[in-house]
Amino acid sequence: MNETTESPAVKLTGLTKSFGANQVVQPLDLEIGRNEFFSILGPSGCGKTTLMRMITGFETPSGGSVELDGKNVDSVPTKSRDLNMLFQSYALFPHLSVYENVAFELRVRRTPKREIDGRVQDALALVRLQAFAERKPAELSGGQRQRVALARAVVGRPAVVLLDEPLGALDQKLRKEMQFELKRMQREVGITFIYVTHDQEEALTMSDRIAVMSEGRVLQVASPTEIYDAPASRFVATFIGSCNVLDGAVSADGRGVVVPGLGELNAAVPADARPGSGVTLAIRPERVTLSPATTVAATAPLGGVAGTLVERVFLGDEWTFHVRLDSDVVMTVSVPSGQAAAALGAIPDGAPVLLSWAAADARVLPADGSTTAAPSSAPLSSEVSA
Ligand SMILES: Nc1ncnc2c1ncn2[C@@H]1O[C@H](COP(=O)(O)OP(=O)(O)OP(=O)(O)O)[C@@H](O)[C@H]1O
Ligand SMILES: [Mg+2]
Repeated sequence: MNETTESPAVKLTGLTKSFGANQVVQPLDLEIGRNEFFSILGPSGCGKTTLMRMITGFETPSGGSVELDGKNVDSVPTKSRDLNMLFQSYALFPHLSVYENVAFELRVRRTPKREIDGRVQDALALVRLQAFAERKPAELSGGQRQRVALARAVVGRPAVVLLDEPLGALDQKLRKEMQFELKRMQREVGITFIYVTHDQEEALTMSDRIAVMSEGRVLQVASPTEIYDAPASRFVATFIGSCNVLDGAVSADGRGVVVPGLGELNAAVPADARPGSGVTLAIRPERVTLSPATTVAATAPLGGVAGTLVERVFLGDEWTFHVRLDSDVVMTVSVPSGQAAAALGAIPDGAPVLLSWAAADARVLPADGSTTAAPSSAPLSSEVSA
């Protein structure tokens, strides 16, 4: 914005890690901003913890470099980096009180005694555990112990806090509460959070930006809404939220997608898409409108697809409908419970129905995405022609 351009809190350049012959983090470039809540999301074993450990210095990269606040830290040991990490399996000192667990790091860092009490009290207030200062970890619930670990991670006010699945052990309700607490805490203390989670809903609700990883690669870095509404690949579309995917090809006039057995479907075909090229259509369940087959005329302009209602499942806040299309593919439609779902109550299971969606809600993705989900003929034919 002005001439004093701030360096990012974290900058990774060509960062990579191999264990023996196994390259678990592929060369990676990434910048994480100051005070950003940045989440890393991906399936088990994709390299999230390894990436975090390289940022902290607990793990030595096989290549590339790490900068913190504009300074290269490749030869700076963990204890001298301005960060703290809350591990996936953290441990509290069982013989120390909550207070002393939180104060521990400050004492190790030789923080002046008169500062320690204020900082510990602040950290305990952040996680709402002031009243528990004298308890031992064994006298706390799992969620309270987790909050002690959080207080300990932020008490030194590091520039960057890395949290590896910090809410993993908590039940759904406590997890939700802690999500709000964490977000509030991060805003209050102005720390950069790098947050690893398996839970996509958690990443969507908390993050400024999300990186989706698979097999050691970062597939997409974007805001939660962009990741959800404009996934760049089939992997991202199906990993974040649920998504209907249909394989097809761009129609001859380049305005829709032809899916075998279903004909031409409404889709947001990019202007540069080649007619006939193979693509994957990705449509979120809540963007699909389900209507009785008798309303064909009314919905026809939206490009309806015929199918049979197989079953419906009540999930509390929504109903999920499964509809078998003529191509035998089963599509999922979600409808908020309440009036909208009640109106569909009259449609019996087994009845013919019509599905429709706005073109903008049917994302057109490359057929092979960036995963191994590509049809097996694609890599074969390219090998043959090479
Ligand atoms: N010290 C090690 N030696 C050899 N292989 C390792 C080592 N640490 C991790 N790996 C391997 O590296 C890959 C990535 O591991 P990592 O712990 O980073 O995954 P993750 O994304 O954090 O998974 P999870 O979500 O299960 O915690 C895995 O295949 C793992 O087996
Ligand atoms: Mg991990």
